[in-house]
Amino acid sequence: MYQMRDDIQSILVDENTISDICDRLAAKITQDHRDSNRELILVTVLKGSVFFATDLIRRIPLPCGLEFMKVSSYGSGTSTSGFIQVHLDLKRDITGADVIIIEDIIDSGRTLQKLKHLLEDKGANSVKCCTLLDKPDRRQVEMQVDYVGTVIPDEFVVGYGLDFDEKYRNLPYVGILKPSVYQK
Ligand code: IMP
Ligand code: MG
Repeated sequence: MYQMRDDIQSILVDENTISDICDRLAAKITQDHRDSNRELILVTVLKGSVFFATDLIRRIPLPCGLEFMKVSSYGSGTSTSGFIQVHLDLKRDITGADVIIIEDIIDSGRTLQKLKHLLEDKGANSVKCCTLLDKPDRRQVEMQVDYVGTVIPDEFVVGYGLDFDEKYRNLPYVGILKPSVYQK
């Protein structure tokens, strides 16, 4: 029987570590927002971040909205002329709210940077960023990330929401994909 595990070179972030990261980041988000009267909204980027967002929000004991967007970012490697394409937009007003964008991974940082500006333009009081994984070696734009789960090396990873060709999202851990899989 073929199993997805056969395509994984090594496990980078196991289930216990993911759980510890969610505990830590949820505690920090709670601490940072507990004394605020403003509405707190997590904006989750489909599809990869859904697993992380639902684990995180369950650990936040404050009233907290959950919204979804689907976006993709285009632009050449060296210019900043790329744009963001919105495939699924917010269905509600976020004016005056404190928004936290939930991402699975930050690579070049382009998607997050553009999404942040978009949400600021929609009238949010503040827009912060929270990511499970950060690949700082790949960063192409200056980007402040407020909550980081863990920094990882420049490897292509899958699992816990992250896909290759829409596969491997349902692995319960984050693993490095064998290069032979995507070099085929
Ligand atoms: P960027 O930060 O704008 O370059 O894009 C980040 C997006 O690229 C993420 O939301 C993922 O969808 C995708 N991505 C980047 N690195 C990986 C990876 O190692 N595995 C799976 N998807 C990735
Ligand atoms: Mg993504």
